[in-house]
Amino acid sequence: MNNTQITTTAMVLDDLDEVMQIEEDSFPYPWSRRSFRGEIMSNRFAYYVVAKDEEGRVVGYAGIWILYGEAHITTIAVKPPYRNKGIGSLLMAYLLRKAEEKGADKAFLEVRDSNLVARRIYERFGFEVIGKRKNYYVDEDALIMIRYPGIAKE
Ligand SMILES: CC(C)(COP(=O)(O)OP(=O)(O)OC[C@H]1O[C@@H](n2cnc3c(N)ncnc32)[C@H](O)[C@@H]1OP(=O)(O)O)[C@@H](O)C(=O)NCCC(=O)NCCS
Repeated sequence: MNNTQITTTAMVLDDLDEVMQIEEDSFPYPWSRRSFRGEIMSNRFAYYVVAKDEEGRVVGYAGIWILYGEAHITTIAVKPPYRNKGIGSLLMAYLLRKAEEKGADKAFLEVRDSNLVARRIYERFGFEVIGKRKNYYVDEDALIMIRYPGIAKE
């Protein structure tokens, strides 16, 4: 598999079975199906994307809220066997394009201090650490990362 066989499209309800499987395999405190449903059906500030392989299987997803000129990355995950092949970067690029399209000139996110893989991608896309939220993840602090307009990007 290479990235030319991966497509990115807006997440729909039919994707949720596969999204939930990846969610549960990826996070110690997974979101519920109801949360994803609410995000894609009722949150007008939210944009969710799925990455699919050549057979239409969901291999990753990500989400963003865009409001008042600012973007907040809410989640990103890639199916474990598909990691480290550039799919997370494709998803990030999609989200940041969406933010730009919608006129959000600043983007921010929270990430576990220990999540070096995610931090690596965010830094590559021009995010920098500006602070910490204590006990954000129950068991660990979050780093707050921000990307200002005009930062060189992928
Ligand atoms: C974070 C995540 C989405 C990344 O997806 P991915 O498809 O593996 O990402 P990519 O292949 O585009 O990039 C991975 C990068 O991490 C780097 N990397 C891999 N292992 C690493 C490690 N142990 N330490 C530091 N960097 C590492 C890779 O070299 C690559 O960077 P490069 O392209 O500059 O070389 C995926 O690992 C995941 O789903 N993790 C679990 C969920 C999660 O933690 N989400 C983020 C919440 S904030």
